[in-house]
Amino acid sequence: MSLVVRGGIVVNADRRFEADVLVDAGKIVAVGQNLPMPTGSETIDAGGAFVLPGGIDPHTHMEMPFMGTTAIEDFESGTACMLAGGTTMLVDMCLPASQESLTDALDHWLDMARKAVADYSFHVAVTWWSDRVAQQMAACVDRGINSFKHFMAYKGALMVDDEVLFQSFSRCRELGALPLVHAENGEAVFRMQTQLLAQGITGPEGHALSRPPEVEAEAATRAIMLAKLTGVPLYIVHTSCRQVHEAIARARADGQRVYGEPLIQHLTLDESVYRDVDWSFAAARVMSPPFRSKDHQKSLWDGLLAGSLQVVATDHCAFTIEQKKLGLDNFTRIPNGTGGLEERMPVLWDQGVNTGRLTPEEFVATTSTNIARILNIYPRKGVIAAGADADIVVWDPAATKTISSSTHHSKLDVNVFEGMEVKGYPAVTLSNGRIVWRNGSLDVERGRGHFVERPPMAPAFIAQALRNDQTRPSPVQRQVNLQQTP
Ligand code: URP
Ligand code: ZN
Ligand code: ZN
Ligand code: ZN
Repeated sequence: MSLVVRGGIVVNADRRFEADVLVDAGKIVAVGQNLPMPTGSETIDAGGAFVLPGGIDPHTHMEMPFMGTTAIEDFESGTACMLAGGTTMLVDMCLPASQESLTDALDHWLDMARKAVADYSFHVAVTWWSDRVAQQMAACVDRGINSFKHFMAYKGALMVDDEVLFQSFSRCRELGALPLVHAENGEAVFRMQTQLLAQGITGPEGHALSRPPEVEAEAATRAIMLAKLTGVPLYIVHTSCRQVHEAIARARADGQRVYGEPLIQHLTLDESVYRDVDWSFAAARVMSPPFRSKDHQKSLWDGLLAGSLQVVATDHCAFTIEQKKLGLDNFTRIPNGTGGLEERMPVLWDQGVNTGRLTPEEFVATTSTNIARILNIYPRKGVIAAGADADIVVWDPAATKTISSSTHHSKLDVNVFEGMEVKGYPAVTLSNGRIVWRNGSLDVERGRGHFVERPPMAPAFIAQALRNDQTRPSPVQRQVNLQQTP
């Protein structure tokens, strides 16, 4: 089916301009003024609106088995709710169990994702190490995976040690694949949790107290140094604090390719929630790293503006209040995770663009283009241009909405942004050329989403390989035979 998005202002990461966008068979086929309309094509009036590349959420957990339960958002409900908020693709974390083959886990996640209503991809986690894992990483790359996730926290579950990090980062370099880290020192967290419980602190406030910024900064700095030693770019997920932002900025100033991903939650919500007297309210906001103070929030916003932080994600990981109650008398058992897939774009626009912290172009860069580039799917995704997938959002900057769990499309029974009023909202969302969100209602079809293959050796890796070549260690040629010296 062909259609024309007419009369809007196209915003890409590099510039904005008035143009119509012609879509056919799931692709953008032309961008320009007064485009001729193919007969029978539908017109979407975008007058007074911006026309943006669909958002990409680089970090989600659909149906994640975690902490004795399973996240309730599935690939169908998750991809549907994101479309309502202007996000047209997600990259989920595929999590092999210890000793499980990475390719078996990938099969399992691909199977779960078959019901997705919009596009998706995966980062595959490295949760253990052996030569077989090294081989399976190559098999994953052959199947369209170019990034591997490492958890430095969650002792006794997903956590890996420095040996695994070093081995896996080195393997990532060989494969041209990007290592990701959840940067928290899991050993320190475990010790602090134990101390806090011994002091009688059992509520959600203990969660934040056991994971201060130093826990995150130590792990992030270690990961950055290991990436330097192994000669590979690095992506730090859910960067939540000033110390980690500054470590990333320092590394970049020192010639390292390190990417930082603040979450919309960390940008806009603060740590006071954990001291709320309502246990459910506080527990619903338990995630790792925890929300931080306003000073940390400011640093994250500044990083987006400065370019030292590149992308905004959600880490959408949905647990109901009933599930959170697994930790009713012990905060260490509260399943970690919060939602945000549907709210990421409107909240970032409202608190970023409407306040002058971000230009509309920077909004596009941090919600879509930079992500597509880093994950090596640009310009198929992340831009309004001929040849790109027709994942498009007609963005009404005047539309207002009050966020609430009673109207959101997620399966969650809470919304961490409850009551927040936002200005700027998707009027229409197109996924692969189909209208899937219009006039406040979804029109989606189970299984319509595609698995998006991501090739290895993104441009940053080609450059990094040259750097590695030029700085390769060499032996010293000596004339002297040591055995002959007196
Ligand atoms: O609390 C969080 N972030 N839950 C999801 C798992 C993770 O660490 O990303
Ligand atoms: Zn499995
Ligand atoms: Zn994490
Ligand atoms: Zn996560």
